[in-house]
Formats: sequence, structure tokens, C-alpha cells
Amino acid sequence: MDTQPSILVIDDEPDNFDVIETLLDGEGYQLHYAPSGQQALTRLSSFQPDVILLDVMMPDLDGMEVCRRIKADPQWQTVPVVMVTALTAKEDLARCLGAGADDFISKPINSLELRARVNSMLRIKQQYDNLQALLKLREDMVNTIVHDLRNPLTSIVLSTEILRFPGLSFQKQQQKIEQIAIACQQLQSLINSLLIMAKLESGKMVLNYTEVDLCGLCISALADVEAIADQKNLTLISELPKPGDTVKVDAAIFRRVLDNLLSNAIKFSPSNSQVILRAENLAAGGTKIQVADSGSGIPESLRQSIFEKYEIGTVNPQVSQIGLGLAFCKMAIDAHHGRIIVEDNYPKGSTFTVLL
Ligand SMILES: Nc1ncnc2c1ncn2[C@@H]1O[C@H](COP(=O)(O)OP(=O)(O)OP(=O)(O)O)[C@@H](O)[C@H]1O
Ligand SMILES: [Mg+2]
Repeated sequence: MDTQPSILVIDDEPDNFDVIETLLDGEGYQLHYAPSGQQALTRLSSFQPDVILLDVMMPDLDGMEVCRRIKADPQWQTVPVVMVTALTAKEDLARCLGAGADDFISKPINSLELRARVNSMLRIKQQYDNLQALLKLREDMVNTIVHDLRNPLTSIVLSTEILRFPGLSFQKQQQKIEQIAIACQQLQSLINSLLIMAKLESGKMVLNYTEVDLCGLCISALADVEAIADQKNLTLISELPKPGDTVKVDAAIFRRVLDNLLSNAIKFSPSNSQVILRAENLAAGGTKIQVADSGSGIPESLRQSIFEKYEIGTVNPQVSQIGLGLAFCKMAIDAHHGRIIVEDNYPKGSTFTVLL
């Protein structure tokens, strides 16, 4: 809804519109006027008000019929209709509701009552609009996920087809098997992230805390991204504590956090640059882990939003951007009662810091 809610007043008597305008004065509404049912229906095809105030007694198309037509059209039926009526018999009021009206107000109109009814209708409309927006977001998310699942799956199907060719060289076979393995890993990782995030969100995730060797954890995370880093000729640098320094975390989840941060650093770094992984137990207690790169960096204005689901910050057509990695990291670190932030790296790039 706009900051100024819009109200369409349908009444054959222009004086009545003036009355309503006066009664609603100062409420910050945008008032529109249609002098007949037919004109109102024509008007509605190009304009959606937030509330309709509809006179019952009008020549030609009366208010009941206009209401019935509005409520019969899927495009309009969610706009609340308040019938304005001089009729007071219970049967007439029942007829208004029977025609699909959401509320009614009797003439002579009382200012307080009119404002209260309009506000209550606007509140309902706003709730409905919010729900619609949420549904749309869900639908977009589902589409994105299905799309992201399809890419690796297509790769598996194609590679399997090729493997069926008789006489395929041993080298080609190995290459296809490797591609299948990578695609399977992508699928598994995406599905695991989605499942763990859903669990973290529902508050039902029970973290399985253990004392983990910090140095070992980092080394194994680095080993897993070595191959992708090699493809871009990146140097992976580690500044790690001596073996034996431990951190109390859910090892599996924490590993995924490191994987995500390293994979981002690699993905958003130019070839031939450096990615640094630092980890240390702080003298004052707690653990600090940093992943620093010399990539594009993250503009100040996006440093909050990239931690939200499906937020991809600056669009980079050269790489896949789903927007789940950092949302996962944030949720996982929150669950550990820690913090994750991003800052500039000098002279260029970004540094992600996890504090536990
Ligand atoms: N190290 C980085 N350097 C520059 N930009 C980054 C970096 N890490 C994240 N970003 C930005 O933040 C966005 C969100 O990151 P996030 O990890 O949540 O999603 P993603 O990498 O796009 O997709 P995925 O779900 O596969 O991780 C990225 O798309 C990118 O624009
Ligand atoms: Mg990522």
C-alpha cells in the first residue's frame, strides 16, 4: 500500500462525496470519486483502491449489483467494500453482506464511525497485501531452489549418457566420473544447507558441541577447496594456532561455515590472488577466525543484507550466486552465540570475521 491509502467513493450524489471528503479530512487518504456504478467499474480496470465506499441506492446499477460484480472479479475481490446505506432494516443489511460487502455504515454518516470502519478495512487490506508479498517471495525462493538443483542434476544426466558410449577413452571416463562426483557434492551440499537452515530457523536444531582441534579443522577445510583454488591459480595462506588448541563447536556445522566463507573468498577473487585463513584463540577468551581475500569487496550498503537468504549483493554474471551461503553462516554462528561481520581488507577485498 502506498503511504497514502486510496479510497474510491461511489455515489450518484456529488454532495455525498463532499460530505465524506469533509468527514475524512486530515486522515491523509487519497480520495477518488465515481458518480455511477458503471463508471466505477470502468475506473477499476486501471486503478486499485485500498478501500471502496459504495452507496447502495443508485439509478441503473445499484450498489448491491456493483458490489456483486466487484466481488465476482478475482482482480478486485480482495479490495474491501464498505456499503453506505440509508436502509437500516436488518434484512437490508443482511442483503449487503450477501452481496459480498465487507462492512456497512448507515446514513447519516458519523465521522468517528466512518474513520474507524475505514481504518479497520485498511488494516485488513494491509495484512492481505503483506501475505501476498510473502507468498510471492516463497514462490520465488522455490523457483530459485528448483533451478539450482537442476543444474548439477543436468550435469549428472549428461555425464552418465556419455559414459554409456562404447569405446570411450579411460581418460574421458575418469573425467566424466569426476564431473558426476562434483555435481553430486553440489546437490548434497545445497540440500544439507537447506535442511540445516530450516532446522535452525525452527529453533529445533540441537547443536552437538565437541572440543575440536582448531588447526585440524582449518587444515581439512583448506584441503577441500584446494582444487578449486588451483583452477584460479590462487594461493591459500593459513595462519593457524599450534595443534592442540581447541574450540567448542558443532564440528559438522562449523565446518560448513568455513567451507562457505572460503568458497566465497575463492569465487569472488581474481585469478592469481591470495586467500588467507586465520584462526586463533584469544587471550581474553573466545576464538577468532578470519577469511580475507583481495576480491571485489562488499560495499558498505550491502554489508547487512548479504547475510539474509537469497540476497546476492552485487550481481556477478560470471559466477553462481544463490545467496544462501552467508545466511547459513549467520544462522549457524548465531546458534553458537557468536558473531559474524564483514569489513574491508587492505588494500582491497573483504575480510569476514567470526567471533565465538
Ligand atoms: N568474499 C566476498 N567478496 C565479495 N563479495 C562477496 C563475498 N562473499 C559474499 N559476497 C557477496 O555476498 C553475496 C551473498 O553471498 P552468499 O555466500 O550468501 O551467496 P552466494 O555465494 O551468492 O551463493 P551460495 O548460496 O552458493 O553461497 C554474494 O552473492 C556476493 O555478492
Ligand atoms: Mg556463497
